[in-house]
Amino acid sequence: METAVDVSDVVKIFNGNFRALDGVNLKVESGCIFALLGPNGAGKTTLMRILTTQIAPSSGSAYVFGLDTVRDGSQIRKLVSYVPQEMSVWTDISGYENLLVYSKIYGIPAEKRNDAINEVLESMGLNEVSNRLVKTYSGGMIRRLEIACALLIRPKILFLDEPTIGLDPSARKIVWEKLKMFKREYGATIFFNTHYMDEAELYSDKIAIINRGKIVTLGTAEELKHSVGGEILYFNLEENGLNDKFLNELKTVNGVRDVIISNSEVTFVVDDAETILPNLMTYFNERNIAVKRVSITKPTLDDVFLKYAGTRLDAMGRLSEVTHVRRMIRRG
Ligand SMILES: Nc1ncnc2c1ncn2[C@@H]1O[C@H](COP(=O)(O)OP(=O)(O)OP(=O)(O)O)[C@@H](O)[C@H]1O
Ligand SMILES: [Mg+2]
Repeated sequence: METAVDVSDVVKIFNGNFRALDGVNLKVESGCIFALLGPNGAGKTTLMRILTTQIAPSSGSAYVFGLDTVRDGSQIRKLVSYVPQEMSVWTDISGYENLLVYSKIYGIPAEKRNDAINEVLESMGLNEVSNRLVKTYSGGMIRRLEIACALLIRPKILFLDEPTIGLDPSARKIVWEKLKMFKREYGATIFFNTHYMDEAELYSDKIAIINRGKIVTLGTAEELKHSVGGEILYFNLEENGLNDKFLNELKTVNGVRDVIISNSEVTFVVDDAETILPNLMTYFNERNIAVKRVSITKPTLDDVFLKYAGTRLDAMGRLSEVTHVRRMIRRG
């Protein structure tokens, strides 16, 4: 598998001594949707600006499709598109006119512009509103227009900085449906920053968590949650008052970390609930103990974040702040 992004020991120092990135190492495979999840000020945008060749690292190296972000900037810029955190379209002209401006900036030949624009309008589901002024668009439509502008060059990798910030769940879903369709059609790689845990979990193939300029963990959402360990398996039995003999036996079942029996309820702390569940069902069946109900609760990404970053993500405070910023730019 080709490597899309390869970052080694990247440090970024601002104002002489502030380490916004403090030794970042990261590899992203081509063709995947990759989420960089982290709180306010963690360094997400800074890393994305390095990868899109806008700023250089203070030390370390960053490669995009084997090209050096410092030495090979102009080649990288032909392969990558970037949708910034701030608003990047004009509101006093139409969606079509925005795309026309961008197609000129990107140097798309005049005779090809109309087709290119119609193609990206189609892929972002904006055909019907393309001639309306952008200031009449919803937040989700504006975001899709910004992405459409970025798609004009048919990027091999698309960088999205907080792609659905401030959008309601249904608008977020549409944005991601369109993005996934684009990814499937063009085999592109998508690298996005987010502080929404559910967005990282729902839409990415891999997640890296960044905190205070350091990648603290990386994996699929499942892997990250497993790494927290300790799933909870809860049995509700017909039988009442299982005795100590059962307790001691159950404690020795492979993969069981702990057992708590309370009347007809047995709670297990296990390594992996799905693997161990059949063994426990067999154990009760063999002893003719009927199981009324079983439930499994798993650690969430919030628990993962807490474990590796030592704090919880304060999504809501941040959301209102950024929505405010985007609105101000839109009016301005
Ligand atoms: N040009 C700059 N000059 C000085 N400090 C900067 C600059 N850019 C970023 N920083 C600082 O570096 C840190 C990381 O900023 P960055 O924008 O990368 O965070 P982020 O993870 O994108 O946060 P957010 O979720 O708020 O967008 C912050 O403390 C920020 O204030
Ligand atoms: Mg940012």
